[in-house]
Amino acid sequence: MFNRFFSFLSQDMAIDLGTANTLVYVRGEGIVLNEPSVVAMEYVDGRKSVKAVGNDAKMMMGKTPDSIQAIRPLRDGVIADIDVAEEMIKYFIQKVQKRKFLSSPEIVICVPSGSTSVERRAIRDAANNAGASSVFLIDEPMAAAIGAGMPVTEPIGSMVVDIGGGTTEVAVLSLRGLAYTTSVRTGGDKMDEAIVSYVRRNHNLLIGETTAERIKVTIGTAKPPKDGVGVTIDIKGRDLMNGVPKEITINQAQVAEALSEPVSQIVEGVRQALENTAPELAADIVDQGIVMTGGGALLGQLDEVIRDATGLPVTVADDPLTCVAMGTGRALEDPIYRGVLTTQ
Ligand SMILES: Nc1ncnc2c1ncn2[C@@H]1O[C@H](COP(=O)(O)OP(=O)(O)O)[C@@H](O)[C@H]1O
Ligand SMILES: [Mg+2]
Repeated sequence: MFNRFFSFLSQDMAIDLGTANTLVYVRGEGIVLNEPSVVAMEYVDGRKSVKAVGNDAKMMMGKTPDSIQAIRPLRDGVIADIDVAEEMIKYFIQKVQKRKFLSSPEIVICVPSGSTSVERRAIRDAANNAGASSVFLIDEPMAAAIGAGMPVTEPIGSMVVDIGGGTTEVAVLSLRGLAYTTSVRTGGDKMDEAIVSYVRRNHNLLIGETTAERIKVTIGTAKPPKDGVGVTIDIKGRDLMNGVPKEITINQAQVAEALSEPVSQIVEGVRQALENTAPELAADIVDQGIVMTGGGALLGQLDEVIRDATGLPVTVADDPLTCVAMGTGRALEDPIYRGVLTTQ
């Protein structure tokens, strides 16, 4: 009774701690925060302090003076810098909390599946230090599947492919459990890097990752256009021959060529998961198809490429960038999903 009273007063939340973006969902309200997982640290006289977090920090990426460093603490799907990750989690929780005066909340956090038990503990501690009364964790593919509206509580096999910044998680789910899961260290970041090196190799032009990401999001495609070169985009960078800034035009056929390696690594991960799936579950996947989530699912024609490679129906979830946060939020709110939460 008292517990219920306080859980009404407190601002329970679900957090999608992504390698590229962190989203916070508040019970009864939905997603209230959606910012890049970036922290700008300032180093003065050997002491470090947080200069900016989230949107403000991302704007500084690639443009900071020597004393400031923009860090993505979860970059490769593992926690590269746990201290900075803790600072970031605390900052986001407090940012959401500031809106009301409340008692300690219950928090569900979705962690990258590749994280170790030490990292999970550190994430839990960070949430506790930020004032959480209890902290639960949820596996990323499970949260993605719940958010995409897949039948995870039923004895029906389904496959989710979550393509984030650092990793691609491929999982087969049934009866609230992960029947098979694999994590490929390829996602949006590898695509950006592939574009940077393509442009450097073929145009002698050095571009930053922010520019590469803009190319990918604007005209990126997993498959060369059927008719010629497709649409084009003008990009600026530094000419490697004479060191001066320069503008060039690149087209979709070139971007598809640049992305061919990360794309085939993702396809390979899906194929591997299918090969390792029990026959009865595989039969379900033939009917249910594969559902794609995460920002990388928005890459043009990637669903088509996976469809061609597997012969299975492939769909992109509605609003793939928020699936994990929505699924984590539902796991917080709906008792039917209690069984998928863990404490470690
Ligand atoms: N339209 C798009 N096309 C291709 N990639 C996209 C698009 N929109 C976002 N992305 C990429 O999605 C990734 C972020 O996805 P997200 O699911 O938030 O990752 P994470 O869960 O790891 O934080 C970034 O690499 C971003 O560049
Ligand atoms: Mg994610």
